[in-house]
Amino acid sequence: MTLLSVQEVGKRFDDGAAVRWVLQDVTCAVAAGATVALCGPSGCGKSTLLNLMAGILVPDAGSIHFRDPDRGSFNISAAGERQRVRFRRRRIGFIFQFFNLVPTLTVAENVALPLELNGLLNAAGKREQALARLAELGVAHCSDRFPNTLSGGEQQRVAIARALAHAPALVLADEPTGNLDGDNAGRVVDLLWAAVRDAGSALVIATHNERIAARADTVIELA
Ligand SMILES: Nc1ncnc2c1ncn2[C@@H]1O[C@H](COP(=O)(O)OP(=O)(O)OP(=O)(O)O)[C@@H](O)[C@H]1O
Ligand SMILES: [Mg+2]
Repeated sequence: MTLLSVQEVGKRFDDGAAVRWVLQDVTCAVAAGATVALCGPSGCGKSTLLNLMAGILVPDAGSIHFRDPDRGSFNISAAGERQRVRFRRRRIGFIFQFFNLVPTLTVAENVALPLELNGLLNAAGKREQALARLAELGVAHCSDRFPNTLSGGEQQRVAIARALAHAPALVLADEPTGNLDGDNAGRVVDLLWAAVRDAGSALVIATHNERIAARADTVIELA
């Protein structure tokens, strides 16, 4: 079953002096529960495509549809800003290369944030859920600390716990191990794969790493 369908998508950026098409005629699909590696040289548009899939950016050509189990097909590319924010909060988990944890919130509060934004569970329930996610990723001992006191590998595990807290149908990861050393990167990837499998989420992961790409069900190569 197709979860996300990208059809003939184009995206251009206007930097004042010139208009440049970064993506042109991109067509691809993500099946529910599948793992997809997004590959290609630096600057080819991997991050841009992830941002389009999340509804953070909107395409300048083509369309992107998300098959919502509750509401049928959702046309991300035609939706307004408010609808896209709501869609993203509920359906998407995003993992960034540099973690993007909220520095003023504790680790547990960071992981509970998607539940908070979706109005899910009471305070005790949110904390319980956050602690369970953190335990699965082996960072329960960090729960009451602030992100800046954690190692890079620990921060990325917390970021994975946060991205999965609300059981999103689609997890988008933008070079999530690009900032970690080899050993840590391997461990984080193992945990990410286990976490999406347990949650039944689909995963699209932008990566330069051939070993990560080889683990995915399918590879999308951007020229
Ligand atoms: N907001 C923007 N305004 C203008 N140009 C942009 C903008 N965002 C991205 N670009 C350009 O679009 C191209 C694709 O960028 P993108 O970040 O998607 O590449 P990428 O494949 O993720 O690269 P990397 O592997 O280095 O992360 C680049 O040439 C970049 O300079
Ligand atoms: Mg990128």
